[in-house]
Amino acid sequence: MSSQQSDPSRQLDAGTGAVPEAGTGVDAGVDAGRHPHEPYGQPRLSLAAVVGRLRAAGCVFAEDEAELLLAEAPTPAALAALTDRRAAGEPLELVLGWAEFRGLRVRLEPGVFVPRRRTEFLVRQALALGHQAEEGSTPVVVDLCCGSGAVGAALAVALERVELHAADVDPVAVRCARRNLAAALRGGRGHGTYGGGYGEPGAGGSGAPHKPYAVHEGDLFAALPGPLRGRVDILAANVPYVPSDEIALLPSEARDHEPRTALDGGADGLDVLRRVAAEAADWLAPGGCLLVETSERQEAEAVAVLRRGGLGVRVKRSEELYATVVIATRLPARGR
Ligand SMILES: C[S@@+](CC[C@H](N)C(=O)[O-])C[C@H]1O[C@@H](n2cnc3c(N)ncnc32)[C@H](O)[C@@H]1O
Repeated sequence: MSSQQSDPSRQLDAGTGAVPEAGTGVDAGVDAGRHPHEPYGQPRLSLAAVVGRLRAAGCVFAEDEAELLLAEAPTPAALAALTDRRAAGEPLELVLGWAEFRGLRVRLEPGVFVPRRRTEFLVRQALALGHQAEEGSTPVVVDLCCGSGAVGAALAVALERVELHAADVDPVAVRCARRNLAAALRGGRGHGTYGGGYGEPGAGGSGAPHKPYAVHEGDLFAALPGPLRGRVDILAANVPYVPSDEIALLPSEARDHEPRTALDGGADGLDVLRRVAAEAADWLAPGGCLLVETSERQEAEAVAVLRRGGLGVRVKRSEELYATVVIATRLPARGR
C-alpha cells in the first residue's frame, strides 16, 4: 500500500474506521448545565455521551477525540454538529478545523489534504539542507503541491532566514496555505514579494527576521514566478502518489473527504513525480535539492525517475514515522 493510503503515523485517528451511524440522534447523555455562550440553546452533550457516540461509530481513540471536540465547540449546538460529523466518518482534523504538524496548529478547510505526521520526516530532511544553505545566504524554499501549507510553514518557522514560495493547483489549498503561512510568519514580518499570490502581511516586531513568502495557484512549476528558475535551494514536493486503482482501497476518511487531486498519482502513482522530475533541475540552484515522499514499494521507480531527470539521488527512511523520502540534488555537471 502507498503511504498516502493509510497512515499509521496519524496521531489520533489511525485506523478509526469511523462509519456513518444512520439516524443516531445526539439527545442522550446531555449535560444539564448550560453553556455560557448559549444560555437558551440545546443542552450540552456530556463528555461521556460524546465518547459513547464516537465509540459506537468505531473511533478507536474516542476519549481523546471527545476531549478535543469539547474543547473546540463554542456552543452545545456546535458540539452536537461536530460529534455528528466525526461519527459520520469525517477525519478528526477536518472536523476540528486544524491539525498539529511539527508543533504548529495548521488550519484546515473541508476539502483540503490533511497533513500526515510522516511528512514531518520530509521537513526534517529539508531543514538539515536548509540550515546548510542559510550559512551562506537566504535559502529559497519552494513548497510545491503545498496543500494546507504545512510543510512550507514548518520550514519557514524553523529556518532563521528564508524566502518561501508555496504553490498548489487547488484554490481551497491555496486559501488554506495563505492563511497558515500568514499565521506562522506573523512573528517574522512575513509578506509577499511577488505579484499574484501574496500572503497577508504579518505583524512581527521590528527585530524579527525578514521572511518573505508568497502563495501561488496553478499547475506545478507553471504557478511559480519565472525569476525563481535556477534559484531554488530546497524544493519540497509532497506530490500525490496513490496509484489510481488503489484509491478505492483507501480508508473512507481519505477516499470520501480528501480531494482526488491530492491523492491520485496515476497508474503507478508516479505520474506527478515524473512531471516534477522532468523540470526540477531547471528550477533548482546549483547544489539545490528536491525532496519527495514515497512509499517503500514505489521507492526504486521513484529513484529511477529522478535520476532520469538528471539529478543525484539518495534515500532516507524513518522507521519511527514509517516514512521514505527521496532527496534529489542538482548535479554540477549540467553545464550552466
Ligand atoms: C499529498 S497532498 C500534499 C499536501 C501538502 N504538501 C502536505 O504534505 O500536507 C498533494 C497536493 O498536491 C496538489 N496537486 C495535485 N496535482 C497538482 C498539480 N498538477 N499542480 C499543483 N498542485 C497539485 C493537491 O491539490 C494537493 O494539495
